Amino acid sequence: MAAMLALGIETSCDETAAAIVRDDRTVLADQVLSQLEDHAPYGGVVPEIAARAHLDHLDRLIVAALNQAKLTFDQLDLVAATAGPGLIGGLMVGVTTAKALAATHGKPFLAINHLEGHALTPRLTNQVEFPYVLLLVSGGHCQLLIAKGVGNYERLGSTIDDAVGEAFDKTAKMLGLGYPGGPAVEQAARDGDPKRFALPRPLKGRDNCDFSFSGLKTAVRHAINALPDGKLSTQDVADMCASFQAAVGDVIADRCTNALERFRRRNEDSATLVVAGGVAANSELRHRLTALCKAQHAEIVIPPPRLCTDNAAMIAWAGIERHRLGIVDGLDFAPRPRWPLTDLSELKPAP
Ligand code: KG4
Ligand code: ZN
Repeated sequence: MAAMLALGIETSCDETAAAIVRDDRTVLADQVLSQLEDHAPYGGVVPEIAARAHLDHLDRLIVAALNQAKLTFDQLDLVAATAGPGLIGGLMVGVTTAKALAATHGKPFLAINHLEGHALTPRLTNQVEFPYVLLLVSGGHCQLLIAKGVGNYERLGSTIDDAVGEAFDKTAKMLGLGYPGGPAVEQAARDGDPKRFALPRPLKGRDNCDFSFSGLKTAVRHAINALPDGKLSTQDVADMCASFQAAVGDVIADRCTNALERFRRRNEDSATLVVAGGVAANSELRHRLTALCKAQHAEIVIPPPRLCTDNAAMIAWAGIERHRLGIVDGLDFAPRPRWPLTDLSELKPAP
């Protein structure tokens, strides 16, 4: 059978991205344009600026992806775009572009759930088999699930307040480290003492798989205010970042332990923990969870950092996975700003 080639488009937040992936798991092109500089002065993503930037850059990125892969539109087999969850303006730009390309060139259109893009990435990078425990940690999401199949996810627990990426971003802001906070906090923490500040470990020890990060964020603020003059030296910032990361690592490791235990109760064989989403790029967390899985005799799969943060290769790949199951979406598919992973009910794989 001839190879299948998918164009993926991602515009749900502040990255404009286009990629081309082949069904043998080869990424032929992977174009990502970050809008960081556009949003930096505001300390967060401004939806109107994001939508405008997607509109300005997407066409060019798609052409760049085709050039990188040395392909033409006619050689593609499908066009996949993130259709939610995310900022509606950006979603509309990506979905409308994908539909227009699909209609013009007579290709199937696939509406992809952004979270499923993250969730299936380890199958692109490591050919992981279902079922697996999925820790999804990004700027807007923080949850533990069992991935049972394409479109088939069971939630074990999620955050009751902030997402962990959001906690990184807010901590960075309080420390004057700019946006996005995750990479900045990770960088500063390298020279810090993780034991200097005694920060709380919210929900640690509870018999569930939920998360809570707003108390941790508040504790960081109190710890900053308690410093003499409320002034932060470079060492203070480093120590705070290291202490914050240590607290996050402790909490997430504890929650994942519970998730693996629940998974094992139902699946006697080996367990695999997959970590996805932007925060999975954090090397401290990667080490922490790798050690945890070693101790628990579980496998761990974390995609390379470039495929953890938002990208379009994951969207193209999700398109391939869904299309293989015979799924095609109509050109009337409306973008969904809210779209939980547990709501992919159009597709009902065998239990
Ligand atoms: O998946 P993603 O790129 O976008 C969303 O779908 O939200 O995740 C972005 C989040 C941001 O909160 C960012 O601060 C965080 O991921 N992040 C990190 C790191 N790189 C990105 N957090 C901690 N350490 C990192 N190295
Ligand atoms: Zn994401």
